[in-house]
Amino acid sequence: MSAVTVDYRNLLAIDEGEAGVDPARLAGDLGSRFREAHEDVQRARRGGSMGFFDLPRALDAAARIRRAAAGLRGRFDDVVVLGIGGSALGTRTLRDALGAGDRARGTSAAAAPHPRLHVADNVDPHSIGALLNRLDMRRTFFNVVSKSGSTTETLALYRVVAERLARDVGPDQAREHLLFTTDPRRGPLRGLAGEVGIPTLPVPPNVGGRFSVLSAVGLFPAAAAGLDVTAVLQGAARMEERCRTGELTRNPAGVVATLLHRADVERGQRVHVFMPYCDRLRSFALWVQQLWGESLGKATGLDGRPAATGPTPLPAAGATDQHSLLQLFMEGPADKVVCFLTVDAADDPIPIDDAPAPLPAFEFPEGHTLHQLIAIEHAATAAALRTRKRPNLTIRLAKLDAGALGELILLFQAATVYAGFLYGVDPLTQPGVELGKRYVHGLLGRSGYDPPRMEEANHPWQV
Ligand code: PA5
Repeated sequence: MSAVTVDYRNLLAIDEGEAGVDPARLAGDLGSRFREAHEDVQRARRGGSMGFFDLPRALDAAARIRRAAAGLRGRFDDVVVLGIGGSALGTRTLRDALGAGDRARGTSAAAAPHPRLHVADNVDPHSIGALLNRLDMRRTFFNVVSKSGSTTETLALYRVVAERLARDVGPDQAREHLLFTTDPRRGPLRGLAGEVGIPTLPVPPNVGGRFSVLSAVGLFPAAAAGLDVTAVLQGAARMEERCRTGELTRNPAGVVATLLHRADVERGQRVHVFMPYCDRLRSFALWVQQLWGESLGKATGLDGRPAATGPTPLPAAGATDQHSLLQLFMEGPADKVVCFLTVDAADDPIPIDDAPAPLPAFEFPEGHTLHQLIAIEHAATAAALRTRKRPNLTIRLAKLDAGALGELILLFQAATVYAGFLYGVDPLTQPGVELGKRYVHGLLGRSGYDPPRMEEANHPWQV
């Protein structure tokens, strides 16, 4: 039974005079257009280019990942992922949604059987320095994650860490503290692993960075931190099954993709806000931001013509950002769709004290909890947006557990590739980031790369 429901009523014109899509179109032009996109995706799957759909059922690979992760137990207090983009955001999503941060919040090493999980995805010396200074290298394991095996930021972090490991545990012991997750055949990281004997896990060649969370990229660190990766995969498999139909109103990812795409191209609503009312899903919103933005922002269409497409994904957090961004969503340009994420059940709803209050503002009806309050906050915000003709939809999780998260992940991955075909662009590529990478190589003085032409440091256009 699925834990995820997509409620898109606030994107439809149900009552007379309302903004939104005429519901008749779901079985009409929008339904037909989606069916075509679904067939495009099915064709791409058969062609072997969308390996992420198969990860939930790659049980041998999952078993190998779990075994590798189990080997860390008792030996390490901390596991650090060194990666960036799709090699980091999914891991952080799993950790934050499923609670592997708890150990970091104070449980003693003796009481907790699983290591703490950290994700180092920047080359900012302040954050990396602070993290490394907190760690006991003798009890720390590093998972270097890079599909290409050549990402400058990740390789720089590896060099920093490898040197510290050699210093603190010795050059021979250092390899006991390392595992590389990378392409099974290609890339510098793969080459180095072979040369110096560092164990590896593969990222399937047909699974791209931002679609790789359900491969060893996300599953190994999550399993090492004690998360139930089997249940994540089972949830993803359930959603994959729900997304096998080309019938729009029965396909949750199809509904999300079709209605967000339509809002953009017909109404100019090209800012797509992803707003969980659940702090554990904040990292998920950042993961969706990368998935949606990097996959759909393209200069060239599938037909080779200029496309310049791309909705702008904007993560937000409820109820917090009701006191920050909501004013803009309500009264600013009508260029947004808000996609809420809510969770029906809370482990501990936390009652609000209902003893007689000194002032009316402090009164809460008997039996009310923080969980009910956050649900009310969401309902009120969705209704207020609707009243102002600001479209929104709500993706509801019955509860936030490993299975529901797996469903949610697959839902958004599938929605992204559907949206790619609806926009007429290839959602699996990211050619726009190459030039910046070449300039980095050029500025690092690497042969074969030119640095960008830059103004002198003392140019007159600064104040
Ligand atoms: O989605 C993508 O392909 C990118 O965001 C990559 O994940 C990111 O650039 C990191 O690449 P790699 O895993 O090769 O180090």
